[in-house]
Amino acid sequence: MGINIRGRSFLTLLDFTPAEINYLLDLAAEFKRMKANGVEHKWLTGKQVVLLFEKTSTRTRCAFEVGARDLGMGVTFLDPGSSQMGKKESLADTAKVLGRMYDGIEYRGFKQSVVEDLAKYSGVPVWNGLTDDFHPTQMLADVMTAREEFGDLRGKKLTFFGDARNNVANSLMVVCAKLGMHFCACGPRELMPRDTLVEQCRAVAAGTGAVIELTDDVQQGARDCDILYTDIWVSMGEPEELWAERIQLLKPYQVNKELMAQARPTAIFLHCLPSFHDRETTIGEDIYQKFDLPAMEVTDDVFLGKQARQFEEAENRMHTIKAVMYATLK
Ligand code: CP
Ligand code: NVA
Repeated sequence: MGINIRGRSFLTLLDFTPAEINYLLDLAAEFKRMKANGVEHKWLTGKQVVLLFEKTSTRTRCAFEVGARDLGMGVTFLDPGSSQMGKKESLADTAKVLGRMYDGIEYRGFKQSVVEDLAKYSGVPVWNGLTDDFHPTQMLADVMTAREEFGDLRGKKLTFFGDARNNVANSLMVVCAKLGMHFCACGPRELMPRDTLVEQCRAVAAGTGAVIELTDDVQQGARDCDILYTDIWVSMGEPEELWAERIQLLKPYQVNKELMAQARPTAIFLHCLPSFHDRETTIGEDIYQKFDLPAMEVTDDVFLGKQARQFEEAENRMHTIKAVMYATLK
C-alpha cells in the first residue's frame, strides 16, 4: 500500500506510523542524492510557505528556507518583532489569514497547543519547528544520520544524557519507540520525561519491539550504547537563573571521553545543536567565569572527535525538512 501524507500537519511524531516515518526518511535520502548530483527538483513551483519564529534559530530556519527554495517555492519569514502575531492579533486570526495566502506554515514557539491551534484554524499543513514539548523535524534528521551509519536501526540503543524531559529528549523517546529502537533517558530523577508520555511511548513500543528505559546511572546509560545524544542544559524560554541548579544536577551526565569509552566502540555522538562545548560563545564564556566549567553538556574532544556526527546531522535537517514539506504539500 502506498504511503500518502498529503494535506497532513507535522506536529508530533506520535501522529505518524513507522511506515510513514520510514517513507519520509527514504524521501529525504532521495533529496540528498539529487542535491549532491546537482539534479534540480523544483517540484512545488508556485507554492508559498511562511515561517513563524517566536524563538531564535539557525538550522531550522535555514533548512526550511533552503528546502523550500530548492523545491521552487516562495518563502516568507516572520518573527514576533516584525508581525502582529500575539500582540495585536490572536493566533487564531493570524492562522486564518495565513491559511488564505500560504500553502504551508512552519511554527517555532512555546506551547504545543499553539502549533495545534495553528493547524486547526489555518486549514493548511503546519510543521512544528520546535515547541517546549517536541522537536519532530529534528528527529527525522537524527534517525537519518543514524541510519546512514548503521542501516537498520531496530534494536540499536540510543541514550540521551542530560535534561531528559526537554523537547528533544521527549521527541527522541517517541521516534525510538516508533522505529523499534532501545531508548534510554539518562539523567537525574528530577529531569525525567513525564509519566504520561513514557506510558504512551511504552504502548507504542509494545507493538514495535522498542525498549524504553529510564535511569539516573550514567554507566547503565552508556553500556552497549550505539548512539550517545545530548542537548543544552537550559532550553530556550527557560529562565537564566536555572543555570546554577542545572549545572549542579547535570554535570555528572556530561558526554566526555570517559563516557564515550564505556559505549560500544562503533558508537556515534549526536547533538541537535547549538552546543556549549567550548568558550567560544558569550554564554559559554560566562559559565566558565562563574562556574569554572570550560564545556557543558559535551567536551570539546568528543565534539571534535572521530565518533561525532553532529554536522552530518545538521545537514540532514535540510533534506528531511524538504521531505516533510514535499510529502505534505505535493
Ligand atoms: N537544532 C536546531 O533546531 O537548531 P536551531 O535552533 O538553530 O534551529
Ligand atoms: N532543547 C533545546 C533545543 C534547541 C534546538 C531548546 O529548546 O532550546
